[in-house]
Amino acid sequence: MTFTRTTDSPFEDSQVLAEDYIPDEVLGRDEELDQISEVLQQIVDNEQPVNAFIYGISGTGKTVSIKYKQRELENALGRYDDVHATFVYQNCESLSSSYQAAIAIANSFLEDSEYEYLHDELDFDRKKLPSSGLPKEHVYDILFEIFDLLTYKHTTYRSELQTALEDSTLTDDVAASDLIEAQSSSGEDNSEMVDILNTLHGEYDIQPPTAVTDYVTVILDEVDRIGTRDELLYEIPRSRTNNRVENILPAVIGISNDVGYKDSIQSKTDSSLRLKEITFKKYDVEQLKEILTQRAEAAFKEDAYEEEITPLASAFARKQGGDARYGIDLLQKAGMKAKKEDASVVTEAHVRQAHEEKERDRVYEVTNDLSDQEKVVLAAVMYHDLRGETPISRGDMYPTYKRYSGSLLDNSNVPRRVADYLKKMSQLGLLERRDAYKGPGESGFEYSLDKVDYNMIIKVLGEAEPAGGSLGLLPDELVAAFEQSAQTDGEIKQARFESFN
Ligand SMILES: Nc1ncnc2c1ncn2[C@@H]1O[C@H](COP(=O)(O)OP(=O)(O)OP(=O)(O)O)[C@@H](O)[C@H]1O
Ligand SMILES: [Mg+2]
Repeated sequence: MTFTRTTDSPFEDSQVLAEDYIPDEVLGRDEELDQISEVLQQIVDNEQPVNAFIYGISGTGKTVSIKYKQRELENALGRYDDVHATFVYQNCESLSSSYQAAIAIANSFLEDSEYEYLHDELDFDRKKLPSSGLPKEHVYDILFEIFDLLTYKHTTYRSELQTALEDSTLTDDVAASDLIEAQSSSGEDNSEMVDILNTLHGEYDIQPPTAVTDYVTVILDEVDRIGTRDELLYEIPRSRTNNRVENILPAVIGISNDVGYKDSIQSKTDSSLRLKEITFKKYDVEQLKEILTQRAEAAFKEDAYEEEITPLASAFARKQGGDARYGIDLLQKAGMKAKKEDASVVTEAHVRQAHEEKERDRVYEVTNDLSDQEKVVLAAVMYHDLRGETPISRGDMYPTYKRYSGSLLDNSNVPRRVADYLKKMSQLGLLERRDAYKGPGESGFEYSLDKVDYNMIIKVLGEAEPAGGSLGLLPDELVAAFEQSAQTDGEIKQARFESFN
């Protein structure tokens, strides 16, 4: 089969469903956007910058809001020629310390041809920083030196001057960089250069650097990922007082979805270093509908989707804790399904399938991440479930667990530990726990499988690689019970089992 273009793809512009797409309008975040504006307004007003910390659970629009506001500010600053702002955005997702974050940020500038001039100005003669080896303080020195060079003088001014020089008949043999240098070193013999400069400023309406305030705002997204080694968050606001920078007004905006991290920051930051805290609330179903309708309209062709898909996707997204990303992802997956089926319309059924698939993936991941002991506990509960013996108490499933852990792991835990495992798995949504208090001295809870997906559990158990060296964590007894139930339950399950094998 060769490739031919799908003729009736439901997508008008699938790009708008991508993670990094910034919509024309950020909906349902008026309060949050206002608070970000308040922080950035300081720059417009040419006043002291404010440091901020943005908190909110996943998918509440933190990243999109800050990028949206940054864009808005950059557009607005075109109207004011006495401030110059640079935004440094760094996602810390795959970084584990401030040291690594500092290297990543420094290199993003060192490798950017737009900032070629840094190599001439810096006291560092390599193309980029190595990912390890340099002392931490040295890395920070370079980073702050870079920040201090992200100025109007070295960027906009330099290029405006260059353009003016090329146009002007004033002089032929002077480069913009010579003029800039002459400006900073005051000396008698510079007077000619300074005259040229002044003429150029006047003739081409160029703002001299001394009349411009430089702001550098560093956005550290998912900053909780750098854990407790997060000193960069504190070093940036202090860098001016500590004389690490002198040309710029630095500020930091930290973003996180980790409530524990937020609390730890509050206890760490002293009063001299206050971060303005902005909290992003969970989306309600109406807000999600607005967001998803906006996306669906842009993503799909006009008659290529049922209107009901957005309320449905919103309901699923709301169940996921109000996560807009989840809803957008459902639209994207539903569209792909429709396309694959050559269906001309994306329907509710496609959204449902997409949701079920995502849910299965999530459960698979959670199950896969369990410890060996926990997996064996799950196997035991599944065994009883297959025999119609759930909900089951810890006491009743314990002998089964003991048999399995003894044969597969060579060791078993005391009932109390097993109770912890059961509790954890019910918190993860793998087991359903119900209160079955029967009186003093009796165990209080009974457990059954929550999302009954036997195939998935069997797959995870079979793929496990326990430390003891035995292959998999699949007890023969469980396989037998599964086959038995598949037979009695008719062909459907049997077919599913075969497809699994
Ligand atoms: N109010 C909104 N209007 C339009 N699109 C939105 C809105 N809120 C979120 N989105 C979209 O939902 C997705 C998730 O949003 P975003 O990445 O900003 O979440 P987040 O709060 O940064 O989550 P995390 O903590 O996981 O990083 C993005 O695709 C974003 O464009
Ligand atoms: Mg984010």
